[in-house]
Amino acid sequence: MSKVLALSFGRKMSNTDVFLKEVLLKCQEAGHEIKFLRPDDLDIKPCTGCCGCVVGIMSGRTNGTCIHKDDFHIVEDAYYDADCVLIGSPVYETSPSGTFKTFCDRMGPSHDISFLTEAKKERLARGGENVLLPDERAFKPRIGCLVAVGGARTENWTIMTIPIMYESMMSAGVDVIDTHVYYGAMNVQHILGVPEEMARADRMAENVIAALAAKTDEERTKWRGESEGACPVCHQSMFRVHPGSDRVECVICGIEGKVLMKAGSFHYEFSESEQARSRLTYAGKLEHRNEIADGAMTQKKVENLKALKEKYLHVGE
Ligand SMILES: Cc1cc2nc3c(=O)[nH]c(=O)nc-3n(C[C@H](O)[C@H](O)[C@H](O)COP(=O)(O)O)c2cc1C
Repeated sequence: MSKVLALSFGRKMSNTDVFLKEVLLKCQEAGHEIKFLRPDDLDIKPCTGCCGCVVGIMSGRTNGTCIHKDDFHIVEDAYYDADCVLIGSPVYETSPSGTFKTFCDRMGPSHDISFLTEAKKERLARGGENVLLPDERAFKPRIGCLVAVGGARTENWTIMTIPIMYESMMSAGVDVIDTHVYYGAMNVQHILGVPEEMARADRMAENVIAALAAKTDEERTKWRGESEGACPVCHQSMFRVHPGSDRVECVICGIEGKVLMKAGSFHYEFSESEQARSRLTYAGKLEHRNEIADGAMTQKKVENLKALKEKYLHVGE
């Protein structure tokens, strides 16, 4: 038996809630323990950008403790307990909701498995009594699914939602196995009156159940979504193009490839080494962790910063 958690950022008992609850019910029928949380009903404060969590991890003083004393620990605890995390957000202005983004920022560096793994190694190597080690559950392998619900009748108006939603899985190193966008969810047409969407929720549940039953890591984390997508790592198709060249970058993975024209259609090629450094992989996260650790040590302090700021202090007030 595994633990399946769903986090919904939609309206209470509306489309996102019900899609996720349908997946949960099927998982429960298959013998898994389920939990449903609505972070919007909790007091979760936005990140202030103080970087106290990063400094705490890198200095060895904390495990990424946040300055806020709020309800975030409720979601964090459930996330750490889970073997599978389902996250759903409504589409607002083509993207996930603001509270979803707040959640991602709070899950950011403080829950990054590369930050925590390196911290654990360094602290164990240093030794001594009462060594402060990260919560072991941070290192537990997890799978995840992302669901976006948009009211617009064209999928185009949901376009940035799933790519941005990968942020909620990235730091903790969750392997996303399926994503789905339900668009055209007008107020009058609740998902409970749309059998094909309820059936899609059931297929997502089947994917979760199959992944949780897998005997190997490869089988557990393999992509089970309904389209292959153009990026071989995240299976989404959102690239930044570089005009005047054949370079493309996956906005989710941060890896670079080439676009080629074959028999009248575009093909995208990403080398093995680029795929290995996707920020969805441990190596990709470690690369970023190391650049931050290096920056903290080597960046030069600006001389006379206080005096230089003086000119800008009350501009436009
Ligand atoms: C502020 C706001 C912005 C929205 N922007 C979009 C949008 O860009 N694209 C879209 O498809 N739907 C948009 N919608 C519609 C919601 O995505 C839709 O109501 C959806 O059903 C919400 O999910 P829920 O039913 O689970 O709460 C917007 C709704 C609100 C309140």
